[in-house]
Amino acid sequence: MEALAKIPQHVTFIMDGNGRWAQQRGLERSRGHVEGVESVRAILEASLEWGIKYVSFFAFSEENWGRPEAEVNTLMSLMFRAMLDELDTLKRYGVHFVVLGNRSRLDEALNEMIDRVDAETADGKAMTMIVFVSYSGKWDIEQASRRMAAEGGESIEPYLSTSGIPDPDLLVRTSGEKRISNFMLWQTAYTEFVFVDTLWPDFRKVEYRLALEEYASRDRRFGKVK
Ligand code: IPE
Ligand code: IPE
Ligand code: MG
Repeated sequence: MEALAKIPQHVTFIMDGNGRWAQQRGLERSRGHVEGVESVRAILEASLEWGIKYVSFFAFSEENWGRPEAEVNTLMSLMFRAMLDELDTLKRYGVHFVVLGNRSRLDEALNEMIDRVDAETADGKAMTMIVFVSYSGKWDIEQASRRMAAEGGESIEPYLSTSGIPDPDLLVRTSGEKRISNFMLWQTAYTEFVFVDTLWPDFRKVEYRLALEEYASRDRRFGKVK
């Protein structure tokens, strides 16, 4: 297969369509979330193969707290389980695993697991994998503004939860929805957007490659003249 013409430094995913994937098969929505975890694995492995240094996933938004309690619980326990199951693999791959979002809303066991995986993978040099949980772009800008004001800072960047992580070059949203849904609002100022109809549980290496080819064909000008 031909090499990709342009490899982004940071690719971010709005993983959408798990519920519809399940509903189309007459299954519970939770089955779609389970299958969606397999897509995360596939994307992580392909990203490592292609040398992408930062890969991030929007897993749970602040607004998603408004879903039925049973679904929220399923999502939280799936995340807990995936971290526990994948810790050794992440270490073997050299992937530093980070969670960003409003951690005060997560339960203690999940918070402890997040800290453990972060600490145990912190020396991973191959890639940084970021999972956004209980995250919203407005929350991030608000918390950053508050801290900036308290410290008398002059630029918001160092206070954003994503500080130190390069802004995404490419954002992929699955399931046909064409909106940002309160994801990284500040950080996507010059991000390229690719919207695909594929539902997240069906989004694997082949679909990812197509998105990267689309990215490679874009002309990024950053407001300048070429
Ligand atoms: C994405 O799939 C997962 C989360 C937002 C947590 P959805 O659960 O939103 O699936 P649809 O959009 O209802 O199909
Ligand atoms: C966006 O998906 C949030 C995540 C993928 C975590 P939603 O399914 O919550 O977004 P809307 O409601 O379609 O905008
Ligand atoms: Mg959705």
